[in-house]
Amino acid sequence: MARRLEGKIALVMGAGSIGPGWGNGKAASVLFAREGAKVVAVDRDATAAAETTRVIREEGGECIEAVADISRVADVEAVIEKTIDTYGRIDVLQNNVGIVGLGNAVKVTEEAWEKSFAVNARGLMLSCQKVLPHMVAQGGGSIINVSTIASVRYLGFSYTAYDASKAAVNALTRSIAVEFGPKGVRANTILVGMMDTPLARGGIEAAGSNVDKIYSGYTDTIPLRRMGTGWDTANLALFLASDDASYITAAEIPTDGGLIARCL
Ligand SMILES: NC(=O)c1ccc[n+]([C@@H]2O[C@H](COP(=O)([O-])OP(=O)(O)OC[C@H]3O[C@@H](n4cnc5c(N)ncnc54)[C@H](O)[C@@H]3O)[C@@H](O)[C@H]2O)c1
Repeated sequence: MARRLEGKIALVMGAGSIGPGWGNGKAASVLFAREGAKVVAVDRDATAAAETTRVIREEGGECIEAVADISRVADVEAVIEKTIDTYGRIDVLQNNVGIVGLGNAVKVTEEAWEKSFAVNARGLMLSCQKVLPHMVAQGGGSIINVSTIASVRYLGFSYTAYDASKAAVNALTRSIAVEFGPKGVRANTILVGMMDTPLARGGIEAAGSNVDKIYSGYTDTIPLRRMGTGWDTANLALFLASDDASYITAAEIPTDGGLIARCL
């Protein structure tokens, strides 16, 4: 059976994982490679980028790594140049980077607000802005922006800066889809739900809470009664990256076990 991304070049921003295990970006990078893509694994953390690259190569896939902070325009330009120099095109851009800014509207610091927007919104915008001309020139491509159900629903956590910056991601993706659709570019948003990833575990542990207890509280409210995993996000990303999704753009698709449908 033909692999779904055979011959495609996939640039993944935030391709590492902040700890051992499988985050959304690491799982997507590995799955893209399993499906035939040549992957450029970009991360601010060199060790994290190298680990994803190692896994892909050990499985027989093709991957090069690059270290970049997506909130810095020079870094974004450098990794795109490296991708074009190496492969000549970019078929898939997955923007996975996201950082959490704590605090409600009164408690959030200006610094946390600025940082969330600098990385989650501005950094993501920069990577779209710099990749789009290449996609237009080559006749199309697929942009997958990783957001959260917290960008459209209040989930019970005071993450004002995070939620607002991710809502900006949704709006930006919609604009790109409408304005660049005629040039063959598709742009979609993944609304990630409650995933058991190193990022989520680390956040709970840093707050001094018990992971199992917190997860059990979450799963009681998730219609499918389980936490998601990085692979649930990766499987949706693979579909959106592939030609199977050739008529899908401007969509905001949850991978959340149905949580978004609940009111209470
Ligand atoms: N894990 C969850 O439960 C959950 C829920 C909702 C949404 N999300 C979203 O999923 C995405 C990340 O998920 P993950 O599990 O892969 O997280 P992760 O933190 O494990 O992976 C993200 C990677 O991005 C890198 N990174 C951080 N800032 C960067 C920057 N400025 N430039 C380049 N790289 C940077 C980190 O080093 C890390 O390796 C985020 O967009 C997040 O908002 C996650």
